[in-house]
Amino acid sequence: MLPIAELHLHLEGTLEPETIFAIAERNRVSLPYKDIDELRSRYAFTDLQSFLDLCYANVAVLLAAQDFSDMTTAYLDRARAAGVRHAEVFLNPQAHTARGVPLREVMEGVAGALSESLRTHGMSSGLIVAFLRDESEESAMATLEAVLTLDVPFIGIGLDSAEVGHPPSKFARVFERAQAEGLHRVAHAGEEGPPDYIWEALDVLAVNRIDHGNRCLEDDQLVRRLVTDQVPLTVCPLSNVSLKVVNELSSHPLAAMLERGLKVTVNSDDPAYFGGYLDDNFDALIEAGHLEPADLARLARNSIEASFADSRRKLQLE
Ligand code: ADE
Ligand code: ZN
Repeated sequence: MLPIAELHLHLEGTLEPETIFAIAERNRVSLPYKDIDELRSRYAFTDLQSFLDLCYANVAVLLAAQDFSDMTTAYLDRARAAGVRHAEVFLNPQAHTARGVPLREVMEGVAGALSESLRTHGMSSGLIVAFLRDESEESAMATLEAVLTLDVPFIGIGLDSAEVGHPPSKFARVFERAQAEGLHRVAHAGEEGPPDYIWEALDVLAVNRIDHGNRCLEDDQLVRRLVTDQVPLTVCPLSNVSLKVVNELSSHPLAAMLERGLKVTVNSDDPAYFGGYLDDNFDALIEAGHLEPADLARLARNSIEASFADSRRKLQLE
């Protein structure tokens, strides 16, 4: 089985419609859809924002640590079936604390499920605390300070949500603080936003990886920089089709990116919303004629090398 490490995955984007309804019932939260079919009928997105609106409305069902734990375990089980042996997952605490859910419930629920999966299945993982870039820098900084006071392990910080109009430089101080704490740093850039946002993520935020990065192809000098430094790009093919970043999978630039020597990895982003998990992404790419056997091996190797796993774990994953 080929996929090895998944490095771009939003836990909130793994809530399947059935789970949303089941947790809503358990928590007596009323949903604005009469049934699962009506919810599914809304999974036709026009752009990133149209998806974010639905995804962050649905997290209203998550109230207690158990809900966050169940969401995380369901993803890990499905990812394991897809061949994932190491997962680095995003969580957006602000999407929950803003609704009055205590930060400790959120973080302990997720972290508990991650450590249980290591114990039971030998599946390693890392939690990345991501900030909503359409919120203020002050809110991100307060969230970072708050998670640092908890005794809950996390490996790094990320930047996601509505990209255009919210450049990486807005969060310079937050990333500087994280770097001083020895945390890994990643940022979504070049999904809808311009190549300049990728430059900023590299030069202002000093990120270790770029999430998406598709639009680097518009800037030859940027491609050269990414290739020279072998900065990993966590590319999400089915997400790109769903959010109209590309017109169709057959015109996806993944093969071109590999060809140019970019260190790309394949990821599922928000699998419950975009038509599939990591194995589904690979199956669709193969079906679209994008990948040779050598590319598959390269992508698997890239996922290990681009991960934040320690060197001992990396050797085990090889
Ligand atoms: N949050 C969840 N998925 C995202 C994506 N693809 N881009 C930006 N923010 C996100
Ligand atoms: Zn993403």
